[in-house]
Amino acid sequence: MKVLGIETSCDETGVAVYDSEKGLIAHKLHSQIDMHAEYGGVVPELASRDHVRKIIPLIHALLEENNLKQSDIDAVAYTKGPGLVGALLVGATVGRSLAYAWQIPAVGVHHMEGHLLAPMLEAKKPSFPFVALLVSGGHTQLIHVQAIGDYQLLGESLDDAAGEAFDKTARLLGLGYPGGPKIAHLAMQGNPSRFRFPRPMTDRPGLDFSFSGLKTFALNTIQSHDLDEQTKADIAWAFQDAVVDTLYIKCKRALQKTRCQQLVIAGGVSANTALREKLAQLATSINGHIFYPRLAFCTDNGAMIAYAGYQRLLKGEQESLAIKVKARWPLIETFD
Ligand code: KG4
Ligand code: ZN
Repeated sequence: MKVLGIETSCDETGVAVYDSEKGLIAHKLHSQIDMHAEYGGVVPELASRDHVRKIIPLIHALLEENNLKQSDIDAVAYTKGPGLVGALLVGATVGRSLAYAWQIPAVGVHHMEGHLLAPMLEAKKPSFPFVALLVSGGHTQLIHVQAIGDYQLLGESLDDAAGEAFDKTARLLGLGYPGGPKIAHLAMQGNPSRFRFPRPMTDRPGLDFSFSGLKTFALNTIQSHDLDEQTKADIAWAFQDAVVDTLYIKCKRALQKTRCQQLVIAGGVSANTALREKLAQLATSINGHIFYPRLAFCTDNGAMIAYAGYQRLLKGEQESLAIKVKARWPLIETFD
């Protein structure tokens, strides 16, 4: 069975084909980063319009370049939430309509379930149960994953997501969008002993996060120093270290609480090298294992949606003919 996956929830148009026998056989991505960079962040209306322009040519190119015909496709999966509502509607409308025209099933996918399952596309994949740390631009969540669709929320951010904190702090440092990779790059020149940022909510029990205070701490540090290149790098280092250490402490607690030895990290921030290294140490220290997607599948992509859609189809799920999306949709809640 071959599933065409479509992702348009934010600023990437992603398409892919997952084959139940061969695994991932095709994927393509058009990133809007350059378009939004000029504005310092994603402009929702521009995002929707660009998805409209790119999605059909991208699907055509995906099929053509991989010698696939439309009749090879057995089902269409698309992201139906959460995300920017206009952007979601583009992928959902195209996905649902293609499935209707091709007379095959359609299935709507939760964007964060896509991220959560992205490590399953790799050779080294986890087995159930495991703990997943989902760290993206919109979410920071710890989830106990028992099976596909069996997700227990262990903790989440009460304010900014980790990626959002990276983006906001990068903006304060004048680094541009998206901030995560820029801070990570600058931090490599940082002096580790110059600043120490707080580790929010680690001094009390529990698995929730709060990252908005770090952004304020960064602002205060910036305002009380001359912002030369070295100081910027030192702040980037201290900020990243605080986020990574906070995530480390909470992951450790989550693994202890659930008695799991497998940790999955996914979502845009899981591309961060310092985070991967620190969590790999954690996994080794408990004789466990860490799993993450290849770099290209940490951020948004169609492959994870094709895979998650395939899993949902296996569970017998299908969309009706109605095209529905949700801007806000907690992973542990049913869609309707
Ligand atoms: O998963 P994603 O592509 O989109 C959402 O679903 O939100 O995540 C994007 C987020 C952005 O906040 C970006 O700054 C962050 O992931 N990010 C990183 C890195 N690469 C992307 N954060 C830290 N270090 C990175 N290397
Ligand atoms: Zn995402």
